[in-house]
Amino acid sequence: MADIRIEPMSPDHIEGFHLVLDTVARERKYLSLLEARPLEETRQFALSSIASGNVNLVALNGGEVIGWCDIRRHFFPSHAHRGSLGMGLLPGFRGQGLGRRLIEAAISAAREAGMIRIEFGVHADNARAIRLYETVGFVKEGVSRDAFHVDGDYKDVINMALILR
Ligand SMILES: CC(C)(COP(=O)(O)OP(=O)(O)OC[C@H]1O[C@@H](n2cnc3c(N)ncnc32)[C@H](O)[C@@H]1OP(=O)(O)O)[C@@H](O)C(=O)NCCC(=O)NCCS
Repeated sequence: MADIRIEPMSPDHIEGFHLVLDTVARERKYLSLLEARPLEETRQFALSSIASGNVNLVALNGGEVIGWCDIRRHFFPSHAHRGSLGMGLLPGFRGQGLGRRLIEAAISAAREAGMIRIEFGVHADNARAIRLYETVGFVKEGVSRDAFHVDGDYKDVINMALILR
C-alpha cells in the first residue's frame, strides 16, 4: 500500500472517481446512492466541488483511482463551518490502512480550509468504517432509526461528527 498516493482530485481523475463511486454504490450496503449519477453529471458536480474549495481527495494506484474522500461544505452561511464527509475504496483495497491515510489527509485539508465540524451518517452494521472513524476522533451523536431501506432491509444510520476547534 506504500506506493499508493493520495492527491487532490483533478479533472483527469473524475472518470476514475465515477467508476469507483459507481462500484461502491452498486454494492448497495454502504452509500445512500445505489448507483453513480451519469458520468457527465458527476463531472459537473466534481468540478464545481473542486472550484468551491471543498476537500476532494483521491487514492491512486499508479494512475488509477481506487478510492476517494470528500468533505463538502454546507451551503447556508450559518452552517458553512460544517462539512459532510463521504469516502470509499474499491473492495480489493480495503482493510489495509488506506482508509486511515485518506481520512487523515482529508481532515487535515478540512482544517486548513477552516472547517470546524465534519459530519456524516454511517450504517450501523458498517463496523469497519465506524471503527476507522472512532480511531481518528469522530464520536457518535445519535441514531436515525430505520433511515436506510434497500431490498426490504431497514438499517439504522449512526450520525457521527468531529469538531476541529
Ligand atoms: C470504510 C473504508 C473507507 C475504510 O477504509 P479501510 O482502508 O478499509 O480501513 P482501515 O484499514 O484504514 O481501518 C479499518 C479499521 O477497522 C478495523 N476493522 C476491520 N474490519 C473490522 C470489522 N469487521 N469490525 C470492526 N473493526 C474492523 C481495522 O482493524 C482498522 O482498525 P485499526 O486501525 O484500529 O486496526 C473502506 O472499508 C470502504 O471503502 N468500505 C466500503 C465503503 C464505505 O463503507 N464507505 C463509508 C460509508 S460511511
